[in-house]
Amino acid sequence: MRIGRSIPPAAAPISLVDILNGIRGLFNGQREIERFRDELKQYFGVKHCFLVSSGKAALTVILQALKELSPGREEVVIPAYTCYSVPAAVIRAGLKIRLCDMDSRTLGFDRKMLSSLLKGEGRILCVIPTHLFGIPCEIGRIRQMAEAGTILVEDAAQAMGGEYGGQKLGCLGDVGFFSLGRGKALSTVEGGIIVTNRDDIAKHLQTRLQMLPHCTFIENLVLVIQGLILWLFMRPSLFWLPKSIPFLGLGKTLYPSTFTLKYMSSFQAGLARRWLGKINEFKRARKEIVMCWQDFAGKTRAGRIFHNPGNVPDLIRFPIGIADSRLRTEILDDAERSGLGIMPGYPGPVNHIEQTRKLFLNQEYPVAEKMARELITFPVHPLVTVKDVRRVTKFLKKW
Ligand SMILES: Cc1ncc(COP(=O)(O)O)c(C=O)c1O
Repeated sequence: MRIGRSIPPAAAPISLVDILNGIRGLFNGQREIERFRDELKQYFGVKHCFLVSSGKAALTVILQALKELSPGREEVVIPAYTCYSVPAAVIRAGLKIRLCDMDSRTLGFDRKMLSSLLKGEGRILCVIPTHLFGIPCEIGRIRQMAEAGTILVEDAAQAMGGEYGGQKLGCLGDVGFFSLGRGKALSTVEGGIIVTNRDDIAKHLQTRLQMLPHCTFIENLVLVIQGLILWLFMRPSLFWLPKSIPFLGLGKTLYPSTFTLKYMSSFQAGLARRWLGKINEFKRARKEIVMCWQDFAGKTRAGRIFHNPGNVPDLIRFPIGIADSRLRTEILDDAERSGLGIMPGYPGPVNHIEQTRKLFLNQEYPVAEKMARELITFPVHPLVTVKDVRRVTKFLKKW
């Protein structure tokens, strides 16, 4: 067990002022939620915005709404390498998963495979392009490939505040969503945002959302306590403590077999009162660290980066591919002991998840498997200092 400065792999800091704003939000109730929603609508330039309890809740409600909008279409195309909440949401919505392999250069969809999957003869309800780690994927090209009636659900869970070609990520598809979970660009402990300009989708979303419960007093209390824990323990000087408690499972990728669908609480909306300033401040801080990692990655031949090095993308973790598996394991083990916040990506492709494996028998996604074997990620969040970067690069130099 390590005692001492440990960098969290991902974080969007929550301050005591945010928590006090959250408690004030609790007293304001619906007014606080409407304020947050209206500010988001203005920022994203969208007609409709809905606030729910998490990113997976957002995706589930979107899929339920789309199922009602396009009856008879049952299949959802998702990346074979993505957050495990995505297949969980598709299953929760009662739909069928179609996996698409990845492009090993961009971490987006494999174009050839996607193009053939999207010729679904009326079976494909939607495709979920994902800005993995915040790397913008090519929504325009995917739209060109999709047949009429296939809906683009933009998974911007990891990309709030990011842009592509001057446009805000999350607003490029027919409907998009963001996560406000703890390792994202902005956090309200948990939370999900849905945005769309399509009235027909919004109408069905509204119907589904009316069925959702609100947070109870106890649930709000739990959120306040979780907020306080994040405020205290996400700082690198104390992160070693929760990290050393095994049952918290920090850093583990789990498949969420069950999860609740709820409205966002007024505590969470209040906690986000300073969101716009925070998002811009965090973005600037993350880009500075991304530049340091780019500079480092450019000088080493051990790792591969997945975006155009001419850009400084707004990432929430900096992914690198290391083909030499022994080297990768050594780096990860040693970094873990030194508390450097270097972590693997998702442990396996979606078709290897224990709980869903039987849905994908005899299916293989070699690039997604390779990514699970090779990816490691460096922390870029606002709690990482330039001194930390120096410590990590010094540590990596021995390889
Ligand atoms: C790509 C992606 N989609 C969806 C989600 C689900 O978001 P949440 O954790 O808020 O439920 C996540 C969360 O990590 C994610 O990374």
